[in-house]
Amino acid sequence: MKITKIKHIGVFTSGGDSPGMNAALYAIAKSAEAKSIKISGFRKGYEGLIDGDLISLKSHELQKSLHQGGTILKTARSKRFMELEGRKKALQALRTNKIDALIAIGGDGTFKGLLAFSEICDIPFIGIPGTIDNDLVGTDYTLGFDSAVNTSIENIDKIRDTAESHNRVFIVEVMGRDSGYIGIHSGLTTGADAILIPESGKDLIYLLEKVKNYDSEDAFLIVVSEGDEIGTELVASKIKEVNPNVDLRITRLGHVQRGGNPSALDRMLGIRLGATSIEVLLRGSQNVMVGLINNMICTTSFQSVVKQHQIDEELQGLLEIFGS
Ligand code: F6P
Repeated sequence: MKITKIKHIGVFTSGGDSPGMNAALYAIAKSAEAKSIKISGFRKGYEGLIDGDLISLKSHELQKSLHQGGTILKTARSKRFMELEGRKKALQALRTNKIDALIAIGGDGTFKGLLAFSEICDIPFIGIPGTIDNDLVGTDYTLGFDSAVNTSIENIDKIRDTAESHNRVFIVEVMGRDSGYIGIHSGLTTGADAILIPESGKDLIYLLEKVKNYDSEDAFLIVVSEGDEIGTELVASKIKEVNPNVDLRITRLGHVQRGGNPSALDRMLGIRLGATSIEVLLRGSQNVMVGLINNMICTTSFQSVVKQHQIDEELQGLLEIFGS
């Protein structure tokens, strides 16, 4: 086994924050300290990398925030890093600060950034999947997805209370960018009458068929993923076309889904993947994302990770049963 001499690791969080990022930071620091490795955090994602905005991280301090959502390192979507000029500055900052390896916690944009960076920088990079969207190949769950779904469920349950009281149709839009994972999970677990996700081509047909005969004697809940090709407003107008008398409201859950304390699952995922990132670095791995598949730790190359994680057939089949 090749043992790489790593004395100083830089870590950063990037893209949309997600609950569990702080737990991962704690685990990274704790595991690194056990091997006498120094850990520093770049603030504000790639922006901090470019500017050399670095702070020293200690596990006893990070321990206090492991239960909190967001990221204590802050995050950003960096336009400057998309330019070669920005990446060259980041390389210089790594050299100046004598960083031997880099751990990034983020989503597909983060890993695309690391791929581009690897063309000019040869220190090892390790990725940890951190996004509420659950849209990465190479892990069953990304950090923050479970917490975001729990937040969606809590809010959709509340909407049901008022929808039942007024016999209203409610369209609830959930996040997920191009992925329907949050939509399908929160829709199925709240007993939604219809679920619209970007991955399905038949969901609107099921919905319109069902809502056509809806008699306003009950609530009718529809969960729509923000990335659905039809879009929330158009869904509303199509419903009105087939059943003009419905009393319809739209709620967008929005960024509330990104916040809040991480669930037990996200805390454990952060702890396990954070610790694993140090282990695989020391074993000599580079340019891979650590993940969990069938509850087993695994690594996947950045090239494979950025291909969108598909919703499997079994889940898609449930859409047909529960949506019609
Ligand atoms: O990728 C996470 C996510 O929350 C998506 O679900 C959403 O489309 C996007 O980020 C929102 O991005 P921003 O916070 O930059 O508006």
